[in-house]
Amino acid sequence: MKIVFFSAQPYDKAFFTQFNQYQHELIFIDIPLSEQTADLAAGATAVCVFVNDKVTAGVIQKLAAGKTQIIALRCAGFNNVDIEAAKAAGIKVCRVPAYSPEAVAEHAVAMLLTLNRKTHKAYNRVREQNFSLQGLLGYNLHGKTVGVIGTGNIGKAFCKIMLGFGCKVVAFDLIANKEVEADGVEYQPLLEVLKADIISLHCPLNEQTKHLINKETMAYMKPGVVLINTSRGGLINTRDAIKALKSGQLSALGIDVYEQEEKLFFRNLSEDIIQDDEIQRLMSFPNVLITAHQAFFTQEAMEQIATTTLNNIQLLSENAKLDTQAALLA
Ligand code: NAI
Repeated sequence: MKIVFFSAQPYDKAFFTQFNQYQHELIFIDIPLSEQTADLAAGATAVCVFVNDKVTAGVIQKLAAGKTQIIALRCAGFNNVDIEAAKAAGIKVCRVPAYSPEAVAEHAVAMLLTLNRKTHKAYNRVREQNFSLQGLLGYNLHGKTVGVIGTGNIGKAFCKIMLGFGCKVVAFDLIANKEVEADGVEYQPLLEVLKADIISLHCPLNEQTKHLINKETMAYMKPGVVLINTSRGGLINTRDAIKALKSGQLSALGIDVYEQEEKLFFRNLSEDIIQDDEIQRLMSFPNVLITAHQAFFTQEAMEQIATTTLNNIQLLSENAKLDTQAALLA
């Protein structure tokens, strides 16, 4: 079977080639999937896409015309795929529902610790023989209240780590998770959870959650709250977040995802003039930490992504039953 990978990075090629147990023909293309590039998949049974490939109705029509039968997401979030259009075109869609949720949860914690204890500044400072502590004051996480929005696979892993730090953990989700509750997490209404000292977002991006964090919801937050987003950029209204950083309402912001990230992330733009003024403004704050969608990026997660994606494609091609979480459209 021929599988065409869009937005393929060298590490995708390395892991998928290593775990190609079905000996499929794997074609790696480094550009994103779009209406202009969809024809490159002509004749491929499956296309494999990542977080910023825009799988719109127009793209799906082109894939269907090229005889593609399966769209396999090599990620968990699927807000970038027009599922209805895929259904109408008779194309099956699958994803990797849970690949090392700990990878993302641990990255969220890394962002929080960096912002709090300013290890990024200390690293640079000491290299310049500046051993002063001025400006590096942090606070104990022990005893602080952490608000978690979305307690699925990643949110649950994040809650467990924060409980281990001795934090009080409060959470909001549409469905309370009994295991999380048994661990000591208290479910509260969203507006109560927003009053925590630290807030971490772990819900998917959809119509209900778009700009969940905006000037109205931020008004409920404690002045000086710390906000971490490793989920999807669209959960935060970036313009409102910039205003909240300027006023001090947000004392720190850690983002692994960004609303307009598809124009920036996963490439080296060090020689370019960046046209996006909002990311430039965010990068100028000393209390904002940005990583370029790397929370998933561990050895364990990459192995899991490669094996699950290839298994999903194999099962769908055999019309076999797929894990219900993995099968978005089987
Ligand atoms: P999951 O599906 O296991 O959990 C999502 C949780 O959010 C569920 O418990 C669901 O009930 C809840 N939820 C849905 N709508 C909600 C709402 N309106 N308010 C509050 N909670 C709501 O997903 P998982 O695996 O935990 O991933 C969460 C998100 O993390 C993904 O949707 C994806 O966007 C993002 N992600 C980011 C990665 C990165 O590298 N930065 C890697 C993997 C996922």
